[in-house]
Amino acid sequence: MCYKHVLMKRLNVAMIGYRFMGKAHSNAWRQVGHFFDLPCEPVMKVICGRDEAGVREAARAYGWQEYATRWEEVVARKDVDLVDICTPGDTHAPVAIAAAREKKVVFCEKPLANTLPEAEAMLDAVETNGVIHMLCHNYRRAPAVALARRMIEEGRLGQIRHYRGTYLQDWLVNPDFPRVWRLEKARTGSGALGDLVSHSVDLARYLVGEITEVSGLLKTFVAERPATEGSREMAPVDVDDAALAVVRFASGAVGTIEGTRFAAGRKNFNRFEINGSKGSLAFDIENLNELEVYIEEGPDSGWRTISVTDASHPYVNGWWPPGHVLGYEHTFTHTVLDLVKAVAEQKLPSPNFADGVRNQRVLDAIERASASKEWEKV
Ligand SMILES: NC(=O)c1ccc[n+]([C@@H]2O[C@H](COP(=O)([O-])OP(=O)(O)OC[C@H]3O[C@@H](n4cnc5c(N)ncnc54)[C@H](O)[C@@H]3O)[C@@H](O)[C@H]2O)c1
Repeated sequence: MCYKHVLMKRLNVAMIGYRFMGKAHSNAWRQVGHFFDLPCEPVMKVICGRDEAGVREAARAYGWQEYATRWEEVVARKDVDLVDICTPGDTHAPVAIAAAREKKVVFCEKPLANTLPEAEAMLDAVETNGVIHMLCHNYRRAPAVALARRMIEEGRLGQIRHYRGTYLQDWLVNPDFPRVWRLEKARTGSGALGDLVSHSVDLARYLVGEITEVSGLLKTFVAERPATEGSREMAPVDVDDAALAVVRFASGAVGTIEGTRFAAGRKNFNRFEINGSKGSLAFDIENLNELEVYIEEGPDSGWRTISVTDASHPYVNGWWPPGHVLGYEHTFTHTVLDLVKAVAEQKLPSPNFADGVRNQRVLDAIERASASKEWEKV
């Protein structure tokens, strides 16, 4: 594949959205060149949001050269090379498709889109316009997760039989928590399914392979909430609060995936366990620097914990000496690192929009299975 980007010394970045992910991505763009040798220099050119005062302050606080209030103008700018989408799901497709038509590199937050047809239209746009694209499933780039992938590729676990992914949060346990955009289908597509299960599905595909068939269950526990914080006016919740699936992989492995915002006490418990014929691996993002490993070696074998902080471990050599731990933000820095390298090498990084479409097909099948109460093909 020949991409349409002109090889450049500087890569001018435009970012749309400036809150949670806007902050995380800004930090990544700001830090990446300070810790890794880059083939070209990312320039934090322009940040975009609808509220002028808010986006002006974000530009100042995060270190962007300029700010703007209309994404349509930003993606059309001749001096913008890459568009980084950090907005809710209802804007992913329009921004990404417009950016692709303007021949920009497109980097988009997960889940790729609110619906499968939207995701397919986004993939079509980036492919038709010959632009490089990437989806931000940053957890792949925690060093311990990348090490897990390496160990599986080396055959250390033997044949994989089980994947067990749980992504548990508790920020909706209180029924007085307001109906924010993440609880509104028109803005977000789905609830825990797209928000949390999409990450677990991405890790499952990255570590075990394609999912072919699913059973599924979606549940909404609190059907209406205050329209805004403290308001007496109520607004409907039309997305799932929890999403569960039993899955079959093309390889013959089987798995369970669960995402919920109702697991009291769990804050960002994104955990997986993988069992193979020769051993097992387990990881939890709240213990980001550790990979739990069991390799079958006779009577003395047992679980051990690897501190994934050695220079030989993925991404670690850009940072600190062994034992000087990394955090959540580094997963984004590693993601933009691989994106910048891919642009310089004119290669497609992963996960990309094709992965996003495959992911969305799994989410779509889980939704269908929940409605039909039958197994559904992906
Ligand atoms: N990779 C991860 O781990 C991770 C974590 C959280 C969120 N996300 C994803 O990131 C995306 C954004 O989530 P967030 O938590 O940053 O949300 P947020 O509510 O914190 O921020 C959303 C931003 O988008 C802006 N925005 C909304 N509509 C816009 C429009 N039409 N034009 C311009 N700006 C607009 C808002 O003003 C705000 O700045 C979502 O797709 C979400 O699923 C990913």
